[in-house]
Amino acid sequence: MSKVIIFQGSPKKKGTTAALLAEVAKGAQAAGAEIVEYDLNNKELRGCQGCMSCRKPENTACVQNDYLKPMYDDLKDADAIVLGSPIYMGTVTAQAWTLIQRLYPAMGPDFAPRYPGKKFVTVITQGSPNAAEYTPAVAAVQGFLGNLGWTLVDHIAWGGAGGEAPEDLKQAAFAAGQKLVS
Ligand SMILES: Cc1cc2nc3c(=O)[nH]c(=O)nc-3n(C[C@H](O)[C@H](O)[C@H](O)COP(=O)(O)O)c2cc1C
Repeated sequence: MSKVIIFQGSPKKKGTTAALLAEVAKGAQAAGAEIVEYDLNNKELRGCQGCMSCRKPENTACVQNDYLKPMYDDLKDADAIVLGSPIYMGTVTAQAWTLIQRLYPAMGPDFAPRYPGKKFVTVITQGSPNAAEYTPAVAAVQGFLGNLGWTLVDHIAWGGAGGEAPEDLKQAAFAAGQKLVS
């Protein structure tokens, strides 16, 4: 069975990002995937401490014993990743960036991907209706995930000031979930 890890970068459990992530999850499940979800707005999740332990060849996971500890095992056999975040002050949330920095162990000492070959989808929501407004910030996030040896298969974007995403976008999110598995 395929395994998909969903990272929720919005602090709002019932917001727009959550609704679109739920559609991606439904699509992946419909295609036969197991879903593992991490809510990044967790008080037991710390930022990277810069200890460089994960630069040692034998340390393929972060040494911190916190909410993300099981995530490194999940990464080993996951087929796909979904990162959802609203735009806060022109980029993804602090919660989402915390995850990206905690993915340093997903690169070895030589910066080669330790867990390559996964597909990923990004889900970005924003107040601005201009879909292209934050392209550089979103591209930076996608670039870091690409550096881990992961391939972007779809990007779901919604600019609607926190309102409900339209039905066609929800369908696109569902289809993105299916693409992660097929
Ligand atoms: C602190 C904060 C900063 C924000 N900054 C931006 C921004 O720079 N550009 C923008 O278009 N929307 C911005 N927004 C609006 C959110 O991106 C938007 O409402 C988003 O859909 C919220 O997603 P959620 O419902 O999943 O939490 C901001 C919202 C907050 C709370």
